[in-house]
Amino acid sequence: MTLPPHDMTTADRYAVAGNPVEHSRSPLIHAQFAQQTGQAVAYGRLLCPLDAFKAQILAFAAAGAKGCNVTVPFKFEAFELAARRTPRAELAQAANTLRFDPPSDGGWLADNTDGVGLARDITLNAGVTLAGRRVLLLGAGGASAGVLGPLIEAGPAEVVVANRTVDKAQAIVDRHATWAAQHGVRLSAHGLQDPGEAFDVFINGTAASLSGSGVPVGPQVLRPGALALDMMYGPAAQAFLDWARAHGAVARDGLGMLVEQAAESFTLWRGVRPDTAPVLAHMRALVDGPTHP
Ligand code: ATR
Repeated sequence: MTLPPHDMTTADRYAVAGNPVEHSRSPLIHAQFAQQTGQAVAYGRLLCPLDAFKAQILAFAAAGAKGCNVTVPFKFEAFELAARRTPRAELAQAANTLRFDPPSDGGWLADNTDGVGLARDITLNAGVTLAGRRVLLLGAGGASAGVLGPLIEAGPAEVVVANRTVDKAQAIVDRHATWAAQHGVRLSAHGLQDPGEAFDVFINGTAASLSGSGVPVGPQVLRPGALALDMMYGPAAQAFLDWARAHGAVARDGLGMLVEQAAESFTLWRGVRPDTAPVLAHMRALVDGPTHP
């Protein structure tokens, strides 16, 4: 069912806040969710000066906005800004979603929907089971830290976090140790020389493909037919996807994760879960461009 667009002058306002932010696909994704669910939502972009994130967000909220998504480099500041944080935001120590609840409702809520978005994309969209599987997470920066809690919650047998700087991998593993034990998941930190082998799912959360230096581990990390997923999409993911396919893996980019994390934020704000399938198909066509015979 296609619903008519709402009168945007009365719609509840949201935005994606970041720097840079002009290339963000989030406004397009949320516009489709709003249309599909009949929610009166107007979602824009909020470019924040690097030294004035807090002031921009406070002004946006004071003008009546209901919440925002937050992208690089402000996810840590967003986490600090909120009165309340979800457990998955606490584990990540970073937030990609703020809901501007009034003090009478407990104050601003910070959430991190990246990890649940990733887990839902893997299990629901890619149709790959995480429960009982062995997972390799490459990288220990903000992207990896943002997804580890929900990955553990999906119940794999083991998660290895491998990073160039082992101490950083160890730090996020230590932070998630209790969570992993509660979920019966073996969790360990490794360097790039000994990441282990034959994983069922390999997730790239590093910026290595952006720097053009290639995939920094050998193909022994893949079991035949493994899922290899880069959290990025478009040209930034291409080298990783080519590598994965050349070594017999099922390659997947981060577009599904992008749509799923957006759906989780929308659900948190509006109490209605949008259907992601048609939105992901639309975004896929936009990103991949027209296919010619
Ligand atoms: P983000 O917040 O996007 O995760 P980040 O915090 O800068 O960005 O982290 C980038 C990740 O990519 C880190 O895990 C980094 O490894 P280090 O912790 O050792 O710096 C990893 N990375 C970046 N370039 C890399 C490369 N050429 N080879 C291997 N790992 C790389």
